[in-house]
Amino acid sequence: MDINTIANRALKSAGDAVAAEPTAAEKLAALAADEMRAVNALIIERMGSPVPLIPKLGKYLVEAGGKRVRPLVTIAAANMIGYSGDAHLKLAAAVEFIHTATLLHDDVVDDSDLRRGKKAANLVWGNAPSVLVGDFLFARAFMLMVDAGSMEALRSLSRASSVIAEGEVRQLAAKGDIDASVGSYMEIIEAKTAALFASAAEVPAIVAKRSAQEIEALDTYGRELGLAFQLIDDALDYGGLAQNLGKNTGDDFREGKVTIPVVLALQKGTAEEKTFWSRVMADGEQTDGDYEIAMDYLQRHDALRGTIELAAEKANTARTALDIFPDNQWKTALQDLTDFVVQRAS
Ligand code: IPE
Ligand code: IPE
Ligand code: MG
Ligand code: MG
Repeated sequence: MDINTIANRALKSAGDAVAAEPTAAEKLAALAADEMRAVNALIIERMGSPVPLIPKLGKYLVEAGGKRVRPLVTIAAANMIGYSGDAHLKLAAAVEFIHTATLLHDDVVDDSDLRRGKKAANLVWGNAPSVLVGDFLFARAFMLMVDAGSMEALRSLSRASSVIAEGEVRQLAAKGDIDASVGSYMEIIEAKTAALFASAAEVPAIVAKRSAQEIEALDTYGRELGLAFQLIDDALDYGGLAQNLGKNTGDDFREGKVTIPVVLALQKGTAEEKTFWSRVMADGEQTDGDYEIAMDYLQRHDALRGTIELAAEKANTARTALDIFPDNQWKTALQDLTDFVVQRAS
């Protein structure tokens, strides 16, 4: 589906909320409602601190919502494989803590103004509190993982945490690099986004002591889902609507972040187009109307469609990875989530 069609649909459904079909993420959230309530209670409890600014800033972000996609994946995977303990609740909360910590840090790095439909924390309190509270949330995630009692799950999620940081640093170093390839872009998003999805999906199988084959299958599911998720996120930064996303569009362009739509457009671009991208991305010289020119070049080379097609491939690999598991409603929900990440407008 074309990104503009997706955006238009979302706009329509926003004005017609009653008639709108629930998304796969919403259906999964309904299925997992009891366990997610427990996860949310853990999140609030473990955000507690006698230092008032910490829960204040933490709650600001947590109460703004967010889709909770990653902990939902953990809960659904645990149920799909028939895990009967409760370690997955702590691990799901830890996953959301890690994600929230990276968002706090990421908005400082990206100088973002809007997050989850609200002023970004860095704009409300400044960069220093965002960085420090992000560190606190990371540390609390590790305490939750220790409480979950599985050294192997701790290994998986702590590895993912360091890989996310590597991805973010790598992306920083690649800023303005108009020679970036599809491969180097994929490596960055695999690290900054897909690694946490992979770990979120596999930790239930790890704590349940399931076979290496099942752990691997869930790892693949999460990784490919995460790649699809970030690919679409990067398309939405050019084609989505801020009111749906709860964050500003056009940020990647302004920052000179060479994401996949630009990589694809550059591959087919003329010499004149390359000169344009070099000025706006590498030299960071942007003037009024440049964003519109960029959008025109993306359109000309079908770069958003190309991005969505790549995401659909990844999502399909994710879906297929679940084939080894017996059918149940949780497996169906995880399969449907692969379509959701490709079709999402928010
Ligand atoms: C935002 O993740 C960061 C990316 C990996 C693109 P989400 O889109 O899952 O953010 P929330 O948690 O729903 O706000
Ligand atoms: C989000 O990355 C942060 C991580 C994946 C660690 P982006 O910078 O691409 O995403 P948004 O647009 O701010 O959510
Ligand atoms: Mg960002
Ligand atoms: Mg970023």
